Amino acid sequence: MRKIDPQQVFDTPCKPSGLKGPESCCKGRPPSASSCMGTDFLQEMAGDVLSGMTGSVKSIPSKYLYDAYGSSLFDRICTLPEYYLTRTELEILERNAHRIMEFFTKGEGSLVEIGSGSDLKIRSLLKGLSRQGASQVRYVPVDISETSLLRSAHRLLSDFPWLSINAVAADFTRGIRHLPDGPKLIAFLGGTFGNFTHEQGVDLLKGFARSMNGRDRMLLGIDMLKPPGIIEAAYNDRSGVTAEFNRNILRHVNSKLRADFRPDDFEHLAFFDPNKEQVEMHLKARLQIRTHISEAGLSVCLKPGETILTEISRKFSRDRAMACFDQAGLVPVRWFSDADAWFSLVELAARAG
Ligand code: SAH
Ligand code: AVI
Repeated sequence: MRKIDPQQVFDTPCKPSGLKGPESCCKGRPPSASSCMGTDFLQEMAGDVLSGMTGSVKSIPSKYLYDAYGSSLFDRICTLPEYYLTRTELEILERNAHRIMEFFTKGEGSLVEIGSGSDLKIRSLLKGLSRQGASQVRYVPVDISETSLLRSAHRLLSDFPWLSINAVAADFTRGIRHLPDGPKLIAFLGGTFGNFTHEQGVDLLKGFARSMNGRDRMLLGIDMLKPPGIIEAAYNDRSGVTAEFNRNILRHVNSKLRADFRPDDFEHLAFFDPNKEQVEMHLKARLQIRTHISEAGLSVCLKPGETILTEISRKFSRDRAMACFDQAGLVPVRWFSDADAWFSLVELAARAG
């Protein structure tokens, strides 16, 4: 898998796109939007798919699960009874929103959300703002899925019309610009951090840590270790939404890179590996498969039973999470959890010096 260059995080130029330019970002107006997702995106996707599909274990990076349809499928996953992550994190957010959002009573600042997805969770944080905090916050959602990003920003504005929003469509592993100066609280929720290997995750956190000043904070959501049966059920729901989400990565590759995968030729496979302490999500070929991916200039053959790795989802012990923070130059300030300790929200500061 590709190494993330921490220097690059927050450093790639973006162009204004979509609704209105950044200069129009003030209260009571539509969200401003900027995009880092130009033609480079297709080249990068072609490069990623080429290297993933020619590696010793075939893989496609999990960020390509999220086109408009993939994002809507993820929203459905969040409502499934088996998928405990969303409701558990929401419960922690709702219980602690007021304490977390005290950050904005100390002066103006930005609430930056990395991999923002739907507006579900940020709503509970915004509800925790005091009147003074509400007048001082600017919301900066960052997501690779442009349609979902703009839809969420509009939905949010209809319920919080006073909120100033500057949406950034960007791949946060490649670099993000247009991040606001001044104090910021960076929310990285949902357990998305667990979709990266240890090395990638530490690199990513290092990039955030370097962008953080003394008063800045990061709010990181991590899914904790628990009995494997509970974890595996969350990725093998009975209604088959996760299977559809998984296969959608092939539809995304088909439409962007002119490939001819037949998603139904693949079985959804998700299991917890106790040694690696992670869920692996694969697509398993039901038969011999030959596919051409035009924009990557690649023909691929898969034997029956061969798999494509589409996602890892790491589950953490406190010690393992602490090791990541330490290596990234971050220190926990507060640790919020649910009664069963299934999920954690960790407030982090950059280590001084
Ligand atoms: N934070 C939300 C959504 C989690 S799903 C929640 O907690 O429910 C993961 C989100 O991260 C999706 O919206 C996806 O589009 C986005 N994402 C995944 N990889 C990304 C990347 N490399 N750059 C930007 N966004 C990414
Ligand atoms: C976004 N991410 C934290 C989800 C997870 O649980 O790893 C993505 C997902 N994959 C399958 N179901 C949900």
